[in-house]
Amino acid sequence: MTISLGIPTRRRLPADLPPRPDGIPGLLDTYGRTATDLRISLTDRCNLRCTYCMPAEGLPTQPTSSLLQAAEIGRLTRIAVQELGVRQVRFTGGEPLLRGDLVDIIAACATLEPRPEISLTTNAIGLAARASALRAAGLDRINVSLDTVHAATFLEVTRRPFLDRVLAGIDAAAATGLTPIKINAVLLRGVNDDQAAELLEWSLARGHQLRFIEQMPLDADHAWNRTSMVTAAEIRERIAERFTLTPDVEPRDGAPAELFRVHPLGGGEAIGLVGIIASVSEPFCTDCRRVRLTAEGGVRSCLFSHTETDLLGPMRAGASDSEIATLWRDAMWAKPAGHGLDTGDFVQPTRTMSAIGG
Ligand code: 5AD
Ligand code: SF4
Repeated sequence: MTISLGIPTRRRLPADLPPRPDGIPGLLDTYGRTATDLRISLTDRCNLRCTYCMPAEGLPTQPTSSLLQAAEIGRLTRIAVQELGVRQVRFTGGEPLLRGDLVDIIAACATLEPRPEISLTTNAIGLAARASALRAAGLDRINVSLDTVHAATFLEVTRRPFLDRVLAGIDAAAATGLTPIKINAVLLRGVNDDQAAELLEWSLARGHQLRFIEQMPLDADHAWNRTSMVTAAEIRERIAERFTLTPDVEPRDGAPAELFRVHPLGGGEAIGLVGIIASVSEPFCTDCRRVRLTAEGGVRSCLFSHTETDLLGPMRAGASDSEIATLWRDAMWAKPAGHGLDTGDFVQPTRTMSAIGG
């Protein structure tokens, strides 16, 4: 069976890499980082069309036969957890709730020993009906993408009038105990950058943990522009319109978000936390612990990789667990030092966030 990924697939290591030493248990790379956090995209489809991700007309999607089936996801997560030292599994997309078998996928992951921490990144559309089943299946945490609590702005950002469904999904997740809920927000200049403090107020009032993510050049329209991007420094200024921030003292421990304590304007007891993920202006690649699998079973060692290592093809052709583990280790050994966004020679990957998996 031929699987077309539309992008170069690398099975062999580039000649300039040192040979990968034998006998190292985890997903080590040549810079000494070990990936323990696996993100699996379950589909490249989405029911929103966020401007920083998808074009208005959508993107061509992969046929179902090219996507990882539930049993294949089960096998790959087992190999990752039992042979490659993965400790956290996050299901993403596209929109993972569009998979009818999501509950089964999570239930299978929850039977693994050692039991990984299982989380979901979702836009929450349709979550209201499924939150308790997901929780019962073993889902530990969710991250919901929400850039605004205004219906008109939501329509402008996502090109869909579904804010009510998202809010209902968040409420259902909170009611079923999928807490604390993390809210991921991207600020766009002239669209919702004036709503940062308001979104924080909304999140704090409900006990959700808000994290702002700097907009990254992963949009299908290639409209990202370094000068129009709202930087972490600006995000802090916007929040300071209504709150006082102090750095959180807890160690960051490889987490991409820099955490701040939120105090009432002028000081006083902290009333919560806010995270800022400064992927562009303050990159954290040296601490990266992430590895990604696309919905078609390609390993991406970095969000900004230009190559993928296909695991689905070999798996369907009869590869053993240890052969798959070796392909996976080789892919990670070649992980680049960083995305290069902070240097001049960055080249945007052909795939968008919806195709890679956040
Ligand atoms: N830049 C920053 N964040 C993005 N996301 C999607 N595309 C981009 C982008 N270009 C976010 C989504 C989601 C998370 C997985 O990534 O809002 O919350
Ligand atoms: Fe869908 Fe997420 Fe992309 Fe928005 S950012 S279009 S919710 S995949």
